[in-house]
Amino acid sequence: MKTTWRGIMAEYAPFFGSPDPDSIVTLQEGGTPLIPLERIAREFPVPVSLHAKFEGANPTGSFKDRGMTLAVSRAAARGARALICASTGNTSASAAAYGVRAGLRVFVVIPDGKISRGKLAQAIVHRATVIQVEGLFDQALSIVREVASTHPIALVNSVNPDRLEGQRSVAFEIVDQMGSAPDYHFLPVGNAGNITASWAGYRAYREAGRLSSALPRLMGVQAEGAAPIVLGHVVEKPETVASAIRIGNPASWQGALDAARDSGGTIFSVTDEEILEAYNLLASREGVFCEPASAASLAGCLKKARAGAFSGGESIVLTLTGHGLKDPDAVFRTQTSEIRVPARKEEVLAVLGFS
Ligand code: F0G
Repeated sequence: MKTTWRGIMAEYAPFFGSPDPDSIVTLQEGGTPLIPLERIAREFPVPVSLHAKFEGANPTGSFKDRGMTLAVSRAAARGARALICASTGNTSASAAAYGVRAGLRVFVVIPDGKISRGKLAQAIVHRATVIQVEGLFDQALSIVREVASTHPIALVNSVNPDRLEGQRSVAFEIVDQMGSAPDYHFLPVGNAGNITASWAGYRAYREAGRLSSALPRLMGVQAEGAAPIVLGHVVEKPETVASAIRIGNPASWQGALDAARDSGGTIFSVTDEEILEAYNLLASREGVFCEPASAASLAGCLKKARAGAFSGGESIVLTLTGHGLKDPDAVFRTQTSEIRVPARKEEVLAVLGFS
């Protein structure tokens, strides 16, 4: 058989303490495509090299799998019987899948009515126990943190350091795929774990001698209605179409600030309109279908480009954090559906313009 991608813990074993292969719980996550976005790049005021790291290609459709393989492998090795997490949807989908693969019970606590149906379907189909709380993600997170600190159940939110350790692998892959780090790396910021982990990944790769070029600037993008880091205070009632990043009090707040400062990048916000513009652009020009929260990275990049932030020749990577199929309702909310005709060839030809 041809050699296949074995998942991040095996592919980057030295970065994860060279784990015993038998202890790894994996769905062969990672190894995601780095897709050139040439048509969108052509619309920039100056020439740039623009790529999307398409994390929707992970086994459960989001970047969360990179951290979950580590968190679940280690929880299982420590003898855990059950996992718990709070989630805006993707973490719960990933925890449910990896948990069931390890033979563990999984409990997911989600904000009532605010997670997309695709993600909810994943938690249900993998037999997780889904608990909707009448409140926000932030409240759900503080509940599960308390529960896990006083009861025998493993917490697999990104406050678990194993999660961030695994999520560093996206930076390893980008460097391997490009042969160097990009000049800029844009990504959406919600609970702020991913920007923290991506930055740690670039630094670890350089320390290990696997990256000799400069480190990238990390550009964190929040949704305007859920932008606590940009505002500098907790947002009590976060609101955005990008439900995955509808978070008012990010757990890795400081990590995000450090990543932006130390890399020479920044954290800023975009409007829901800008997010949806970018979401539609990716799908309609490039054939890349990501979920709304993911498109915040392109929205932020376009905003910077229009403000003249690039001088030409820069290389830019956008993390597209989750697959568009996670949230199909986002399409139907803004776009008209199919054309209906009687079941006759002539009717179809008329629509094609051949009549
Ligand atoms: N994009 C998507 C699709 C996400 O699901 C998340 C976070 C983010 C971006 C932001 O990443 O939190 O590391 O800053 N989703 C979490 C969840 C909160 O519960 O699935 P972050």
